Amino acid sequence: MPDIKEVNPLREGLSSRAIPEPCAVVIFGATGDLTHRKLIPALYNLAADGALPPAVSVVGFARRDKSDEVFRQELEEAARKFSRQQINEELWTGFASSIFYHRSEFNDLAGYQSLAKRLDELDAQRGTRGNRLFYLSAGPDQFPVILENLRKSGLNQAHPGSWARLIVEKPFGTDLPTAQELNQLVSDAFSESATFRIDHYLGKETAQNLMVMRFANAIFEQLWNARYIDHVQITASEALGVEGRAGYYDKAGALRDMVQNHLLQLLCLTAMEPPAGLDANSIRDEKVKVLKSLRPITASDVRKHVVRAQYSAGAVNGKRVPAYRDEQNINPESVTETYVALHASIDNWRWAGVPFFVRVGKRLPKASTEIAVQFKAAPPVLFNVEDQTIDANALVIRIQPDEGVALRMSAKMPGSSLRIEPVKMDFHYGTSFGKATPEAYERLLLDAMSGDATLFARRDEVEEAWKFVDDIRASWDSNGDDLALYAAGTWGPTEADDLIKAYSAAWRRL
Ligand code: BG6
Repeated sequence: MPDIKEVNPLREGLSSRAIPEPCAVVIFGATGDLTHRKLIPALYNLAADGALPPAVSVVGFARRDKSDEVFRQELEEAARKFSRQQINEELWTGFASSIFYHRSEFNDLAGYQSLAKRLDELDAQRGTRGNRLFYLSAGPDQFPVILENLRKSGLNQAHPGSWARLIVEKPFGTDLPTAQELNQLVSDAFSESATFRIDHYLGKETAQNLMVMRFANAIFEQLWNARYIDHVQITASEALGVEGRAGYYDKAGALRDMVQNHLLQLLCLTAMEPPAGLDANSIRDEKVKVLKSLRPITASDVRKHVVRAQYSAGAVNGKRVPAYRDEQNINPESVTETYVALHASIDNWRWAGVPFFVRVGKRLPKASTEIAVQFKAAPPVLFNVEDQTIDANALVIRIQPDEGVALRMSAKMPGSSLRIEPVKMDFHYGTSFGKATPEAYERLLLDAMSGDATLFARRDEVEEAWKFVDDIRASWDSNGDDLALYAAGTWGPTEADDLIKAYSAAWRRL
């Protein structure tokens, strides 16, 4: 029986979306940070909005010993801290009664067998109909053993008429070979249509809006090509540092942590051709084509196209912060990059010659993610002449915060003289729709419950993204000593300014 319903998440409001089905959500690594900060708050908010299916059980699977009651209390504390909406006592009590704790080592098959039994009991008591959504949110080194035991215990095989699906949290491998290995292990246990690889940026409202903006408005698509666009800048800046994730981050670095997934996904959504349809595979086919068209960055040109840097001590929002190397649990001699700026070329007809600049960094002056499409300048006739040069048009898609879209244009200043100034047409989600934007994880959990993989990465997508990133890493490895430094609280190293200047452009001020 096909696992995927042909639903169309982008037509929400035009036609009804698939109703998520009753199910048990089993979280591996249930005592971890993600469960507390994101998953439980997301599930609670869905429950509070009445968006969850009529029957849902949440089963936390982890090593530490604790009762359902203690687990619920811990999660309540976390939900109070991290939930988008305030916790309502009555709603929480109802929601908490659907949460259970299952203690087991990840490598203990008996723990999975007893989980299977417990899930069957919960089905009978709560009406979850044998549907299971397994969420891998443990450390990635545990993924293989969890997958193996899901297979050995038969939990990957749904009862007739039910489904079993898998959500895999990032990081999905650390390079192409490890991602391929993990893909193999995943596909030994779950079909591709039952596999949901999380990239939470795809769940962000404005990332989803990119397709609507491009393909529901006739004006943009005509201009969306090398003829009219000078360059594209994609920025994800964070004010935060490594925040207690030193062990993972010091091994990963910004290129693996952010570029391989989130930033390349944003680049794909910006650059892809119109898909044949709005189903998951048509959209993902187009994204894969973009990734395949990225020109590899080789050892001989890595310095020209990529800047890597690490933050030194500085101040963010008026608060002094230590250098990356002095952060807790970071190797004092670490050469891990906390900042990357790169120039990507997409070798296809639409984008030939249009630079795509991507920059990402921690401990920058503020948290902001945006895509800026910089149009070519007006010709130097009538207005755009020597003493009156005017700014080119720019379309800025703000992914976060203050989600929205702005178009920069030139306008005449009121008055008797002819003075031209840049003005903005600005759309803000908050004020236009008067509705809070849901968290990415809310949308993604709901989609996985509905069997809709549109906002998840496909196997080949993840692997193609690793190919691009692996080339850069390999070039770094062979080049050695090009790590630049930037003071925390600044917009990155001067090398990054030089990188973009070489294309007669400058980074936007955010
Ligand atoms: C995660 C990265 O995937 O995304 C983190 O591992 C980063 O390092 C985070 O801080 C950023 O997500 P958001 O939603 O806060 O932009």
